[in-house]
Amino acid sequence: MSSTKLILFFLLFLTLNLSASSTGGDHERFMYAGFTGANLTMDGSAKIIPSGLLALTKDTFRTQGHSFHPAPLRFGQSNGTVTSFSVSFVFGILSSFDNIRGHGFAFFIAPTNNFSSAFPIQFLGLLNDTNNGSLSNHLLAIEFDTIQNDEFRDIDNNHVGIDINSLNSVQSYHAGFYNDKSGIFTNLSLIGEGPIQVWIDYDRYTTLTNVTIAPLGMARPIRPLLSVTHNLSTVFTNQSYIGFSSSTGLSTAHHYVLAWSFGMNNPAPIIDSTKLPRLPEPPNSVLLVRRQLMYKEVREDWEVEYGPRRFAYQDLYRATRGFKNNNLVGIGGFGKVYKGVLPISKLQVAVKRVSYDSKQGIKEFIAEVVSIGNLQHRNIVQLFGYCRRKNELLLVYDYMENGSLDKHLYNFQRQPTLDWSQRFKIIKDIASGLLYLHEEWDKVVIHRDVKASNVLIDKVMNARLGDFGLSRLCDHGSDLHTTNVVGTIGYLAPELVHTGKATTLSDVFGFGIFLLEVACGQKPIKINSEGSHLVLVDWVVENWHKGSLLDTMDTRLQGNYNIDEACIALKLGLLCSHPFPNARPNMRQVLQYLDGDVKLPELHRAHFSYGISFDVERRNSQCSAAFSIHAEDDLDSCIN
Ligand SMILES: Nc1ncnc2c1ncn2[C@@H]1O[C@H](COP(=O)(O)OP(=O)(O)OP(=O)(O)O)[C@@H](O)[C@H]1O
Ligand SMILES: *[C@@H]1O[C@H](CO)[C@@H](O)[C@H](O)[C@H]1NC(C)=O
Ligand SMILES: *[C@@H]1O[C@H](CO)[C@@H](O)[C@H](O)[C@H]1NC(C)=O
Ligand SMILES: *[C@@H]1O[C@H](CO)[C@@H](O)[C@H](O)[C@H]1NC(C)=O
Ligand SMILES: *[C@@H]1O[C@H](CO)[C@@H](O)[C@H](O)[C@H]1NC(C)=O
Ligand SMILES: *[C@@H]1O[C@H](CO)[C@@H](O)[C@H](O)[C@H]1NC(C)=O
Ligand SMILES: *[C@@H]1O[C@H](CO)[C@@H](O)[C@H](O)[C@H]1NC(C)=O
Ligand SMILES: *[C@@H]1O[C@H](CO)[C@@H](O)[C@H](O)[C@H]1NC(C)=O
Ligand SMILES: *[C@@H]1O[C@H](CO)[C@@H](O)[C@H](O)[C@H]1NC(C)=O
Ligand SMILES: *[C@@H]1O[C@H](CO)[C@@H](O)[C@H](O)[C@H]1NC(C)=O
Ligand SMILES: *[C@@H]1O[C@H](CO)[C@@H](O)[C@H](O)[C@H]1NC(C)=O
Repeated sequence: MSSTKLILFFLLFLTLNLSASSTGGDHERFMYAGFTGANLTMDGSAKIIPSGLLALTKDTFRTQGHSFHPAPLRFGQSNGTVTSFSVSFVFGILSSFDNIRGHGFAFFIAPTNNFSSAFPIQFLGLLNDTNNGSLSNHLLAIEFDTIQNDEFRDIDNNHVGIDINSLNSVQSYHAGFYNDKSGIFTNLSLIGEGPIQVWIDYDRYTTLTNVTIAPLGMARPIRPLLSVTHNLSTVFTNQSYIGFSSSTGLSTAHHYVLAWSFGMNNPAPIIDSTKLPRLPEPPNSVLLVRRQLMYKEVREDWEVEYGPRRFAYQDLYRATRGFKNNNLVGIGGFGKVYKGVLPISKLQVAVKRVSYDSKQGIKEFIAEVVSIGNLQHRNIVQLFGYCRRKNELLLVYDYMENGSLDKHLYNFQRQPTLDWSQRFKIIKDIASGLLYLHEEWDKVVIHRDVKASNVLIDKVMNARLGDFGLSRLCDHGSDLHTTNVVGTIGYLAPELVHTGKATTLSDVFGFGIFLLEVACGQKPIKINSEGSHLVLVDWVVENWHKGSLLDTMDTRLQGNYNIDEACIALKLGLLCSHPFPNARPNMRQVLQYLDGDVKLPELHRAHFSYGISFDVERRNSQCSAAFSIHAEDDLDSCIN
């Protein structure tokens, strides 16, 4: 080898070594002042726009965007501790319209760069409803949250939080900073007041994580906004990706990052605020004022906080092409339902027009709509929000391509009928949805109106429960097959008729009737040609007593069903629709029975020997009497 070659070889070796230590070593440092040409990994709506801004989200509903440093960093040391590190970045959030906000964004350190199973909206593109809170997330996130989500106990709609493995922050505080001299706290609005700089520091010895924010250009305040002691060695995996995540829901905002620096075992390089790309001008709000005059809506002061859940009447009008009959997909007890496509986002929605009497508790109802809108589960029809006009309420739901289940069950033109495996899946889906409402969300939600027409099927044939809560506001009034109690005849638990008080067990009753309906392919109450009522439960009980339970299965299945599953469905249907509430299982047990994890208890004839009359005319006055007679002797055997 000649000496020049040797030198070249040596140089090459040196460069290789250097680049390796700068990407993998424990003194990793980097700095982006603007992102033009930056080698970042991105997904979803994230992109680098020509001005050099990293744009995480834009005017698109329910999107998420992530952006990472391309290679994972080594936070774990050989002795099992996580190194100290320091991060700084500058961000800006612009609202798409006046006072409308997206869900915010987060800086994160996570073991993966694959967030395909994370949810947008309040989950910020970081977690989903099953892994929230799980230690196996190995996640640290600093959230900049611009919407208040009660289920994550958010303090307000403008806060910064330190999140460890969960979206319930370990610590959070209204966005702002403390004055170095006076110690006085100054509020900062995360949205629309210009770029904000953030500093995040972790010290391996004290295990303190500090988060500090200030308007761009201001020196770093001494006192951090948040300071949490938590040994991150117990959180991180050895290698972690670092980056940003952001999401929008039914309202949107632009989330931008202007600069980003990082130092491991070192302070993050200082960001020169004079050399950064500029945020775009915020959109003009004059247009919005004109629109409000043209399309009169009712907006009261107390609604301001529900901004994100409020739809503009004009948008809904345009989405449904002026509520034309071409777009009508159904008429229910509450009013007409239209299909629509929202402008800009192109999101398909179902808009339900409900007329209401302004004397009824609209304020409480809207609070409930907003709260229900926060529910997110694969077996629940998502409620995006609402719009209010005089005596009219418009509710905006996720559009379900395959319509309501009753159409599949009872439209005899629709061929072929749902097969048994589809039906059994629908049953399990609805059981999961109901379990979520009863036990898995922040507060107990009682559906009050479980029935086939409130089960909607999405385009991949998942069943979702829709339409809850409504029965409280709206009097079904003139509608024939509904009562003014709450719910629908045939699905109403007897004790509900008696006491008027809906409970999770009265939902279980409705679920039981629904189960029978799906298995037997028959409505809960049929009126035959002589005008007398044929009650599905009674008929199934009768066949069961005769030993011909399976004869009640839908004949359109032509005997093609799994016998074990069919027996579970029918017997569970009877157990759930037991007239005595305490004899009914709860939804968690229902799922265990359906999954075959727990064997269904033997049903005894005695359980159903109370001679309950489902006669529509007589039920109101007689049901409760019938129960009290038999309740005492049946109590023990009912529960086992
Ligand atoms: N999110 C949706 N996506 C697609 N279609 C829907 C959606 N919501 C409702 N529909 C259609 O509109 C019809 C009427 O729905 P709605 O919920 O108002 O009434 P219902 O459930 O039949 O009766 P009730 O109002 O008494 O509960 C449904 O049967 C269904 O076909
Ligand atoms: C970007 O970074 C990744 C990971 O370090 C590397 O594999 C890739 O070659 C880089 N791409 C460019 C264009 O520099
Ligand atoms: C982390 O790295 C250290 C040393 O490199 C090793 O001893 C340890 O087993 C690793 N831990 C995991 C969970 O991979
Ligand atoms: C772990 O190792 C790092 C460097 O390898 C060292 O600086 C640190 O003090 C060690 N920590 C403990 C708790 O031993
Ligand atoms: C991300 O994970 C999902 C499963 O959660 C998988 O289907 C997908 O292929 C993964 N994507 C990449 C790019 O690895
Ligand atoms: C939630 O995310 C985890 C992985 O992080 C995934 O295994 C799980 O399937 C996801 N759950 C849902 C409901 O998407
Ligand atoms: C998220 O996880 C935290 C921590 O386990 C838990 O307290 C909280 O209830 C969860 N929130 C939701 C909405 O699942
Ligand atoms: C900051 O904002 C919060 C929430 O809006 C408010 O409660 C608080 O009084 C404000 N503080 C100051 C100093 O303005
Ligand atoms: C966090 O802030 C406290 C209080 O100002 C300070 O004593 C500590 O050194 C800071 N720690 C880090 C890691 O910046
Ligand atoms: C943090 O946890 C690691 C691993 O459990 C442990 O080795 C280390 O001593 C802890 N650090 C402190 C400061 O307690
Ligand atoms: C469900 O909807 C999808 C997409 O619109 C369609 O292809 C499919 O045929 C529908 N299935 C049934 C059973 O109607």
